[in-house]
Amino acid sequence: MEPEPDLDALLRSLRVWDTELPDFDPRNTPAAPLPLFTQWFAAAVAAGQPEPHTPSLATTDAEGHPDIRTVMLHGADETHGWHFASHAGSAKGRQLAAHPYAALGFYWPSQGRQIRVRGPVRTAPPETAHADLHARSTGALASALVGHQSEQLGSYEELERASDAAWERAQHEPDAAAPSWTVYELTPDEVEFFQGDTRRRHVRLRYRRTTEGWVKELLWP
Ligand SMILES: Cc1cc2nc3c(=O)[nH]c(=O)nc-3n(C[C@H](O)[C@H](O)[C@H](O)COP(=O)(O)O)c2cc1C
Repeated sequence: MEPEPDLDALLRSLRVWDTELPDFDPRNTPAAPLPLFTQWFAAAVAAGQPEPHTPSLATTDAEGHPDIRTVMLHGADETHGWHFASHAGSAKGRQLAAHPYAALGFYWPSQGRQIRVRGPVRTAPPETAHADLHARSTGALASALVGHQSEQLGSYEELERASDAAWERAQHEPDAAAPSWTVYELTPDEVEFFQGDTRRRHVRLRYRRTTEGWVKELLWP
């Protein structure tokens, strides 16, 4: 048997912000958060940040308890906000139906940057979900066709059979519908940009939506 790793020692050996980090001047920022998100996203891609498009999505369950998991960001724009997709019957789908408010958390360590996006969530029309799914890969369609997300699985063999059938169907019927596949649109009330700093003078800039438009505030780190 392998010796058990020393978690405490490992944790103590690791560092954050141990690299050259970009400067961020919060005085020189756009009036709304989306252009800054797009700039930071492009910079993360250019810096080689792996999978910058996979935020954590936090939701609230029926007891008021938080839940969290990773999703893929499918887009962000002025009309539809930040959008992602999933199955309506999954845990997150049920939570969003009952409590349509969520948060997305992005962390891009290559630049010491974190972005938090919070706000109400709308369900896009089924045509949008269909178009979204069919603009993606055969694998994405096959995965959506498997369905049953977050239901208890009897055995791994059951998944293998369902997945084989779904791949077969996705290849022969590329326009097949996955009825539970849903696009969710989060329209932010708040977006916070965090720029890590080696000296721990982290810059936190929060955009807050008000009736007069976006207000920008600095926060103590
Ligand atoms: C990198 C990555 C990307 C993912 N993208 C999605 C996604 O776009 N949609 C989705 O439903 N699940 C996605 N998942 C799976 C979810 O994290 C989660 O396991 C699943 O959606 C079930 O979550 P739930 O039980 O909270 O509903 C992704 C997982 C990872 C690790």
